[in-house]
Amino acid sequence: MCGIVGAVSTRNIVPILVEGLKRLEYRGYDSCGVAVHQGGELRRARSTSRVAELETQVAAEDVSGGTGIAHTRWATHGVPAVHNAHPHFSPGLETARIALVHNGIIENHDELRAELKGKGYEFLSQTDTEVIAHLVDHLYDGDLFEAVKSATHRLKGAYAIAVFCRDEPHRVIGARLGSPLILGVGEDSQVSERFLASDAMALAGVTSQIVYLEEGDVVDLQMGKHWIVARDGASNFKSVQREVRTVHAHTGAAELGPYRHYMQKEIFEQPRALSDTLEGVEGFAPDLFGENAAGIFRNVDSVLILACGTSYYSGSVAKYWLESIAKISTQVEVASEYRYRDSVPYPRTLVVTISQSGETADTMAALKHARSLGMENTLTICNVSTSAMVRESKLAYITRAGVEVGVASTKAFTTQLGGLFLLTLTLAKLRGHLSDAQEAQWLRDLRHLPAALQSVLALEPQIIAWSEDFAKKQNALFLGRGLHYPIALEGALKLKEITYIHAEAYAAGELKHGPLALVDAEMPVVTVAPNDALVDKLKSNMQEVRARGGELYVFADADSHINSEPGVHVIRLPEHYGALSPILHVVPLQLLAYHTACARGTDVDKPRNLAKSVTVE
Ligand code: M6R
Repeated sequence: MCGIVGAVSTRNIVPILVEGLKRLEYRGYDSCGVAVHQGGELRRARSTSRVAELETQVAAEDVSGGTGIAHTRWATHGVPAVHNAHPHFSPGLETARIALVHNGIIENHDELRAELKGKGYEFLSQTDTEVIAHLVDHLYDGDLFEAVKSATHRLKGAYAIAVFCRDEPHRVIGARLGSPLILGVGEDSQVSERFLASDAMALAGVTSQIVYLEEGDVVDLQMGKHWIVARDGASNFKSVQREVRTVHAHTGAAELGPYRHYMQKEIFEQPRALSDTLEGVEGFAPDLFGENAAGIFRNVDSVLILACGTSYYSGSVAKYWLESIAKISTQVEVASEYRYRDSVPYPRTLVVTISQSGETADTMAALKHARSLGMENTLTICNVSTSAMVRESKLAYITRAGVEVGVASTKAFTTQLGGLFLLTLTLAKLRGHLSDAQEAQWLRDLRHLPAALQSVLALEPQIIAWSEDFAKKQNALFLGRGLHYPIALEGALKLKEITYIHAEAYAAGELKHGPLALVDAEMPVVTVAPNDALVDKLKSNMQEVRARGGELYVFADADSHINSEPGVHVIRLPEHYGALSPILHVVPLQLLAYHTACARGTDVDKPRNLAKSVTVE
């Protein structure tokens, strides 16, 4: 999703801006641009191609300067096109005075556009962002900081912006509400500089001295100094000091090594990612989740899980674990639904948000909504320790998947499951549902998990053979039961996300209540078949499919006694792995989606229309 980089420095900052955009590329974007203060005027380059193209363009056009902003855009208002790409200028091309980039969505853009048109502003794009540029220009009276502060009072919705002005060459102003923005303090003693970015990763290698701007903050960046003001009531601001933290952000796109795509690499990294995530776990003590976890966990008697997409499915698996092992009532809810519905708050609830990025706008808003309803026992399970969600929660468990570049989440999912399983056993122990012998057995199972995952990854050649069939299909059904129903849902999401094949998942018992009508010889039915208490029921559901000519593709545990026969293709996993089985069963589904996408020739790591970090609602 959109990314921002900005800088004011005594050196040419174009290479830093472009490099920052490259580090944000993994989030997904459809156009990009950069603007600088050069020779007393605003210069700009924009492209609907990759950041590498933009880099060539700025070099060819000799765009350089010490003050500038840059952006990767993921279209919300207006198609992906150069005229909609940021930075946007105001008041016009020839007379441009203000340059601005924006992440988020301005909800009252129509009203503001009409008002600004009435004042003579001409709009050259369909974006909500151009409205902000004109608004800042309209309010500008010689002091950009004041103009931006005033403009923020008129904006409804979510924004992180970076803006500079032709008439104040050594100044960039940033502001945020609802979308992340960080300030970087220059470390190079030879130059005086300050930076802005939507993510600390954009500044990796430039500075590790980071200030996390808070909701409503406006920041004034000048060479070697900055000021921050925070909202104070409806229309005032007050000066604030924000802590400068040392953040060693990962440099992002790691080497691909022997892999064709990041998604494939990330699937194969799962044994390592899980063993890192579980490293040092010697037992199931609350302090795994933070200093105050024991008190909080003792004070709760239900769990509410809030998340989106793949993270929602990991939460859905955890519901089965938490209710059956820890005996604690658990609800899982899609964050974008929870944040807007009337719900009955229950203060003794542990609110668990799950997110790879920790930046997902809907999940963040759901967390804040839960807090506003008086539910203060909050825990985030997240892959980014510095993320907004981790900072917003009382407790956290940081998964150690490492940077996930592929838009399709894989290692983040299995490591989330690792963290959620630890939560389950920790609550089970506190609530008297875990004996010493059980604790020791679970520890052994968790330690063996990376090796078990390796043996599932070894199935790749068999899955490649299946993917040739799938590449020709237009639809697919996924079936699972119990703990593995969310795994079927995740398998269908992976397939549709990167292959563009229409895929649906059902709890297998639901088949005869409707979806069976879809089954014919053209419909592949992927079945997740662990040897658990429901396997015989699942076998009956498989018969229902065969009786209608449907072709079954079954991932069965070695001991589940499901054999290949005409119309039934079977790939055998290791023997049943008990409650941890979903962590193994999701892997072949990831590989099936990946190889089917390769066979169809899609852009696996950057599927169309999708972004890695969904920072708008
Ligand atoms: O960063 P998050 O885990 O909060 O992201 C949530 C979803 O946007 C994400 O899981 C999405 O569904 C993935 N692209 C699925 O592969």
